[in-house]
Amino acid sequence: MNSTVLSQFPVARPRRLRQSPALRRLVAETRLAAGQLVLPLFVRAGRKLRQPIAAMPGVCQLSPDELLREASAAHAAGVPAVLLFGIPERKDEKASGAFARNGIVQQALRLLKKELPSLLVITDVCLCEYMSHGHCGVVQTGPRGARVLNDPTLKILAQSAVSHAEAGADIVAPSDMMDGRVAAIRAALDAAGLAETPIMSYAAKFASAFYGPFREAAESTPKFGDRRSYQMDAANAAEALREVALDIREGADIVMVKPALAYLDVLYRVKAEFGLPTAAYAVSGEYSMIKAAAANGWIDEKAVTLEGLLALRRAGADILITYSAVDAANWLRDG
Ligand code: PBG
Repeated sequence: MNSTVLSQFPVARPRRLRQSPALRRLVAETRLAAGQLVLPLFVRAGRKLRQPIAAMPGVCQLSPDELLREASAAHAAGVPAVLLFGIPERKDEKASGAFARNGIVQQALRLLKKELPSLLVITDVCLCEYMSHGHCGVVQTGPRGARVLNDPTLKILAQSAVSHAEAGADIVAPSDMMDGRVAAIRAALDAAGLAETPIMSYAAKFASAFYGPFREAAESTPKFGDRRSYQMDAANAAEALREVALDIREGADIVMVKPALAYLDVLYRVKAEFGLPTAAYAVSGEYSMIKAAAANGWIDEKAVTLEGLLALRRAGADILITYSAVDAANWLRDG
């Protein structure tokens, strides 16, 4: 709004509209609803297994039976979607577990789609959990050290995405940050007769220290080096817009900004510039910070969590990916 508009319509008493909860609700510009939430879940082989993640209180690696329980609870709370990550029994240098017909994510998909057909299941498409070295792509070691190869990685990513969609994934979500992966995945899905499967691309994914606790959860810490040669530099917002533009041109249906709270400017610009359905991922470190401060009695977990999610909505996010999805859905319902 420019100053001319302001001078034409002076509001001398903005407090007039803040007098009661009902009035404040009536004029709220932004709303949070359970239908916007996505709950990330970690699945690994086993039975009756709930392996807690130390740095993420309340989050566990789950065996498929427990995953079903957790997903049912989320569904019952009004959360429309889960985002699946798999921890395979064996890792290798080809990420075989990522596209195995009977891989852990593929098994979990069949179970969830059979038992909870109306729950949306989104799958993270990446290789880091399946690679013995923990990188998101194929690694080549040479005289100048190890490099993550772009194009050989695309084939494996595309194969993984197709195997997820064949096992029932409602949306596939590539998080690897290789160049050209959305196009490669779109082409492979289309060729496999899966033209209706949408792609939610982690379009602006930054190399972030906020992923620390996740790497314990997904057992995906790189054995050497870091992810800075493929994930984005935290200094760059204009580049993030170019990354998003590329993914849209390649066929992304939904674009994501990740992490969330430290990148609100990027989120705002992505939504304003492209207007596509836009997701924000409140990552593991964001969750852990709130949990730790709340456990110390330093902040109010519910109020801080909801305020953070509302900020994502205000900045332009349509879809909120958060480990607090079930709590948030319950808080929103109970008021
Ligand atoms: C896989 C992936 C990561 C996250 C989501 N997908 C980790 C990483 O890139 O190292 C992070 C999620 C979180 O921190 O909650 N590439």
